[in-house]
Formats: sequence, C-alpha cells, structure tokens
Amino acid sequence: MTQDELKALVGQAALQYVTPGDIVGVGTGSTVNKFIDALAGIKDQIPGAVSSSEASTARLKALGIPVFEANAVGELSVYIDGADEIDALGYMVKGGGAALTREKIVAAQSRRFVCIADESKLVKVLGKFPLPVEVIPMATARVVRQFAGMGATAQVRLKDGTPLVTDNGQHILDVTGLQMADPLAFESQVNQWPGVVTVGVFAHQKANVCLLGTSDGVKTLT
Ligand code: A5P
Repeated sequence: MTQDELKALVGQAALQYVTPGDIVGVGTGSTVNKFIDALAGIKDQIPGAVSSSEASTARLKALGIPVFEANAVGELSVYIDGADEIDALGYMVKGGGAALTREKIVAAQSRRFVCIADESKLVKVLGKFPLPVEVIPMATARVVRQFAGMGATAQVRLKDGTPLVTDNGQHILDVTGLQMADPLAFESQVNQWPGVVTVGVFAHQKANVCLLGTSDGVKTLT
C-alpha cells in the first residue's frame, strides 16, 4: 500500500471514534484531510466541527460540514489529528504543517486525542523530525540562542524565501539536534521561554489512542 492509501485507511478508521450528535475536534495535515473526506460521508450525524487551522476549516466547509469557534462550544468528546512522530506512550511531535498552536488548543479542549498516522511516524524516541516551535517574531533570535545553548540548531521556517507566517501571525522555528528523553519536562521547560507561543512536543496533550496504518491493516495502540 502507498503512504497515501495508508493515510486514507486510518482516516476512515477514525470514524469509529466519532459519536453521533457530538461536535468533532479536527486537526490539520494530509492524513487529517483523508479523515475530513470520510467525515463528510456521515456529516448528517454530527452538528459540525471545531477546526485547528484555516486550511482544515476551508476543507470542512467545502464539504458542507459546519465549523464552530472553539470559544462557542464546551468540551469536545474527541479530537482527531495526525503527527510528525509518535512514540509508544502516545507522546508526539507535531507542527510540520505550522498549525501546532491551534492543534494544541483544540486537543486540550477534548476528552480524547485520537492520532491517525501511517507506520512511518512511529518512533522509539522523539527527535528525528525537526521540532516545530511557534514564536513571536521579535523573540526569534533569542530563542535560537537558547536552543544553541542546548546544543541544538534552530532555523526560521521560510516560505517563498521569507519567514512563514502562521494562522496566528507568528513565525516557526524548526529545531534539530535535540535530545528529548523526557518529553513532558522538555515541553514544560521550553514553554517557559519568553516569546515561545507553542512548542511542538505534545506530551501534556498526548494521544490516548493511535490508529497506525500498516501494510497489514490498521493497528490500534493505546
Ligand atoms: C500540522 O501542523 C501537523 O501537526 C500535522 O498534524 C502533522 O504535520 C502531520 O501531518 P501529515 O498528516 O500531513 O503527515
């Protein structure tokens, strides 16, 4: 099976976690796009979704799924999203699509995080994928120096030759050379740095379930 087919497989499988009558928390990315397409098939059973990005909002609306503001609704029963890396404990690195801040907000608003990913995303230790960190632009150089002090290298993510601007008007640093033996402690530490909006380690908002697309079918990790 191709990676695209594996993404479609887990996108479809995630429907079993959607409760009829409940608003669904929806993540961002190519795997979630498959989930959104599958969700459109049962849109009459749900009031709509809370979205984690402008891109997912546009896709949801184009398929006729109403989108609610996070502040307009209460706790969600489920949040479904992809990951750039996930380990056996459900800790993740996210933000390859630059939507990490809103993703973490909607995840925190949800009782259960269901991660959907192809098997290439499962790792023993987080850190191979460059860690995305959303920062306020005036703090960029200093946060780069703070990572350098840890022995890591942070680079401003570019789009068409200039710094990428997130849905929140901020920039993204991609950080390589990190040791994240303790993702919970690492997330707490970097969250304290002035100018950091969100660090792309999802340890406090870890996945409760991971639907992993493999050539043998969908494996469920809990
Ligand atoms: C978006 O900001 C990310 O957190 C995505 O969830 C993550 O990058 C996975 O994306 P794909 O499903 O496209 O691999």
